[in-house]
Parts: sequence; C-alpha cells; structure tokens
Amino acid sequence: MQRITVIGAGNVGATCANVIAHKELAKEVVLIDVKEGVAEGKALDIWQTSSINNFNTRVVGYTNDYLKTRGSGVVVITSGLPRKPGMSRDDLIKTNAQIVKDVTEKVIKYSPEAIIIVVSNPLDVMTYAAHLASNKDKRKVFGMAGILDSGRYKAFLADALNVSPKDIHALLMGGHGDTMVPLPRYTSVGGIPVTQLLDKSVIDKIVERTRKGGGELVNLMGTSAWYAPGAAAAQMVEAIVDDQQRIFPVCARLDGEYGLKDVYMGVPVRLGRSGIEEIIDIDLDKDERKLLSDSAASVKGVMDVLDGMDLF
Ligand code: NAI
Ligand code: 2OP
Repeated sequence: MQRITVIGAGNVGATCANVIAHKELAKEVVLIDVKEGVAEGKALDIWQTSSINNFNTRVVGYTNDYLKTRGSGVVVITSGLPRKPGMSRDDLIKTNAQIVKDVTEKVIKYSPEAIIIVVSNPLDVMTYAAHLASNKDKRKVFGMAGILDSGRYKAFLADALNVSPKDIHALLMGGHGDTMVPLPRYTSVGGIPVTQLLDKSVIDKIVERTRKGGGELVNLMGTSAWYAPGAAAAQMVEAIVDDQQRIFPVCARLDGEYGLKDVYMGVPVRLGRSGIEEIIDIDLDKDERKLLSDSAASVKGVMDVLDGMDLF
C-alpha cells in the first residue's frame, strides 16, 4: 500500500505507526496530531530506528496538515483524550465525539476511498460517530477493541495454564466496556476446549479480570494502555493491506445480526482488502445471548448521548 495515516500521535497512535512501519505495511506512514511538533517528532524518532530495525517504510509527521494524508488506503483514528483513574470510557464522549467528527471529515476530504479504523474511546460510540461523519459503507468504517480485549483474555489464560499464548484461540464479543462478553465456550488451547482445562471458578475470574483489563492498567499507570492497543490496531491494518481474510472480533454496525439492529459493537468478522468482508453470525446459548443484549443496551445508552449532542 502506498500510504497509511494514523491520526493522533499520542501513546496509541505512535505505537500503531511504529508497528505498521516495522511490518512494512505501506511505503509511507503519515502521523497527524493537533499539538505542534508532536507528530513530526515521533515520526522522526521512529524513522531513525529504520536502519536499526531493518525497515523501509518512511514515517512522516505533520501538525494538522491533512493534504499530506491524500490518497491513504487505511486511516487509523486514535485522536482524543485517554482515561484517567476514576473515569469510565463513556466519560470521554463529549470531548472525543467532536474530535472524531472533525478529523473524520478532514480525512475523508483527502482520502475518500480510505478504510477507517477507529480506536478513540468510547470506542463503539466513536465508531458510530466516524460512520455518521464519513457517510461511508459500514464495511469500511469499524472499530478496534476486540483484538485488544481478547489479547488480554489470552494473556491471562496463558499465565493460568502455563502455555504459549500462541496456542490460544478465543472469541470475545460485545461493547468495549465492563459489559464485554468473553466466550469460554468458544475458547480453545491447542484445539482443546478451555472448559476441559480450567475450573469454571478460575475461568470466571479470568473473564472478570478481562472485563476490567483496561481499568487495571489505568490504575497502574495513571493513563490508559498503548502497546497492546497500538499493536492490535496494526494487526487489523495488516489483515486489510495483505487481504488476509482473518477472523477477528471487530466493532461493526449490526443490522439484524444476532437479532440486534442499529448498534455498534464487537462481533466476529472476516477482515480483508474490502474491510469487513463478512459478519459471522455464530450460535449463542441463552445466557450468552442475554449478556450480548445487555452489552448492546449499554452501548445504545451511550449512542443516545451522542444523538442528544446534535453534532450530526
Ligand atoms: P494520548 O493522549 O497519548 O494521545 C492522543 C493524541 O490525540 C494526543 O497527542 C492529542 O494531541 C491528539 N489529538 C487530540 N485532538 C486531536 C485532533 N483534533 N486532531 C489530531 N490529534 C488530536 O492518548 P492515547 O493513550 O494515545 O489514547 C488515544 C485514544 O484511544 C483515547 O481516546 C483512548 O481512550 C483510546 N484507546 C482506545 C482503546 C481501544 O481499545 N479502542 C485502547 C486504548 C486507548
Ligand atoms: C483500554 O481498554 C482504555 O480502552 C482502553 O485499555
């Protein structure tokens, strides 16, 4: 791919650009930030690792200059405030909705064909905001959270089982918040269902820790995580750029899948060159469906807050 843009050169955006460059997913990665010099500086710092880490991808940064993003194939939006201790992701809506609207409009002006991956929080509702601002096909505007949340879930399982995280396959659905739905019934370790390897009480504790995984890091660091979020967004970019047809949990607009309509949340999708190639509608039992619909109700509540802001 010729050009990939990452909006927001903060912790998550810069990490994402760094991983994209290391994987050589494009000829050029453009970082954009509103703070004078930050994108330029981080891009220069990453570019100066190119001879050390052996990559050719040129990394450049600009302050608010969207002309330089022209013709991007994929744009990752990370601009916005992160959480501080005591804040929920939903507390960020007022500031971040305006930012996401604003940057999406600018991105679309210069890259009307771009696939947009939203990272800013509250994630599901910011994906809705980017969809409204871009007016694009829903298969081209979606959000990153499920790869991060399932990455946390897999890391906790790998520790509990003393196995390689590479051998863990897991599915996690729902909104990016405390109502997310990790699915032990769809979790396996080297092909063995996790329910045969760990007691229910241990799995329940891991599920709960996963739901609170973002908050655990905010409490430790005073701001939210970036290594795993940046890498997770870059993994989505890779699946698109290399047309990998990989199956990941992605925040997508639902129009009847899982019996849910007009809501944005994490579901398994097949990701390739066209963006979301397919939303996979798997069987859920009664309890799993209830958890998913509770999560949808929680996301809808925050979507209503956005609707009430009259931004669109
Ligand atoms: P950060 O504060 O390190 O970086 C955010 C950057 O956005 C700053 O450099 C800021 O100057 C920039 N920015 C603000 N307004 C802008 C605008 N109008 N145009 C361009 N740039 C602008 O924050 P961090 O840690 O990188 O987090 C970014 C966002 O990602 C937050 O909303 C955070 O909650 C969210 N997040 C989402 C995750 C997910 O799983 N979806 C995981 C981790 C963070
Ligand atoms: C995270 O889960 C706060 O959404 C951010 O780390």
